[in-house]
Amino acid sequence: MERKLRFGLVGAGRIGQAYAQAFESAEAAELRAVADIRPEAAQALAQQSGCEAFDVYQSMRRNVELDAVLVCTPPVTHPEIALYFMDRGVHVLCEKPFAIDVAQAEMMLAASKRNCVAVTMASKFRYVDDVIRAKSIVSSGILGELVLFENAFTSRVDMTAQWNSDPAISGGGVLIDNGTHSVDIMRYFLGSLADVSVVEGKRTQGLEVEDTVRIFVRSEAGVMGSIDLSWSINKEQESYISIYGSRGTIQVGWKESKYRQSSSPDWVVFGRGYDKIQALRSQIDNFARGIVGDEKLIITAQDALASVEVIQAAYASLRQNHWTAVSRGIIGPAHSAQSVPKRALVEAGRT
Ligand SMILES: NC(=O)c1ccc[n+]([C@@H]2O[C@H](COP(=O)([O-])OP(=O)(O)OC[C@H]3O[C@@H](n4cnc5c(N)ncnc54)[C@H](O)[C@@H]3O)[C@@H](O)[C@H]2O)c1
Repeated sequence: MERKLRFGLVGAGRIGQAYAQAFESAEAAELRAVADIRPEAAQALAQQSGCEAFDVYQSMRRNVELDAVLVCTPPVTHPEIALYFMDRGVHVLCEKPFAIDVAQAEMMLAASKRNCVAVTMASKFRYVDDVIRAKSIVSSGILGELVLFENAFTSRVDMTAQWNSDPAISGGGVLIDNGTHSVDIMRYFLGSLADVSVVEGKRTQGLEVEDTVRIFVRSEAGVMGSIDLSWSINKEQESYISIYGSRGTIQVGWKESKYRQSSSPDWVVFGRGYDKIQALRSQIDNFARGIVGDEKLIITAQDALASVEVIQAAYASLRQNHWTAVSRGIIGPAHSAQSVPKRALVEAGRT
């Protein structure tokens, strides 16, 4: 690559600040400007990064020559901001969830095509070194035929005063928030997903949205998956991905990643765990190199759209009734089993 690509950052909040750190060691991209409707946030981050600050992203576009923009604002704002830049010839890397519904995601892909610019979703886990290594171990076939995929993203976070629990801004609860990562990782390992079913747990934070869910998924190749997501419990697990094959198991962990073939008593350690800044840096570099054609995008626009489709299907499942009552009487006939409505969902107006 002849020169680094010039990026603007929209949204100087939590993830925007982590990206600013990642830009410091990026090889193919540099941060030229930051925009945030909170001027003090934009200024603080721009000062730290040695670039310009704006309180309106349109001014950033007018005043700074940019090749690409990284959108790090709350979900409902993604389509509007992405379209603004794409319609002006600027490539867009947009944080997950790409959009809060399929229609908006399709609109973003259409804008990319119309303007001949790249757009895709930022979803850091595909860029974690251990996840990439795990993918190549799984693809080598040494674990046999894949049967079961498990993932959990659970931690206790008080979401009562966060936009994440306001569906008008976030599009939903933990399912769209953490679940977008899960779906993207699962698609990375297993390919297209065929069916999804979601069960909601207890709401312990009094939120308008779901704060704990268990997702069941089947891939088109017939691999079964289960995903646990929560803002209210912490499963305290060392690994966040476990994949079980007919000849072995692999675990991708926060501090260490390993696999074991069933023919061997020993685990083989292949990675040192999760490094957020490494993942964000690799993602920025892949997007920059993808724009100029030096690399293939690891997450394509089609992957971005597919993630929104799966999450939309997951919400449709959540609204439907999949529970079947177990007969209460000791000698109660099995055929008396009945479906029961999901009361919490009806009350939350999700039907
Ligand atoms: N990849 C990850 O690990 C990860 C982690 C956290 C958040 N996210 C995603 O990143 C996005 C931002 O999340 P966050 O946690 O950083 O939120 P945040 O609330 O900490 O930051 C968002 C920032 O965007 C600014 N903003 C809002 N509307 C704007 C607009 N129209 N123009 C300019 N600035 C605007 C806000 O003032 C705020 O500073 C969300 O889509 C979220 O899902 C991803």
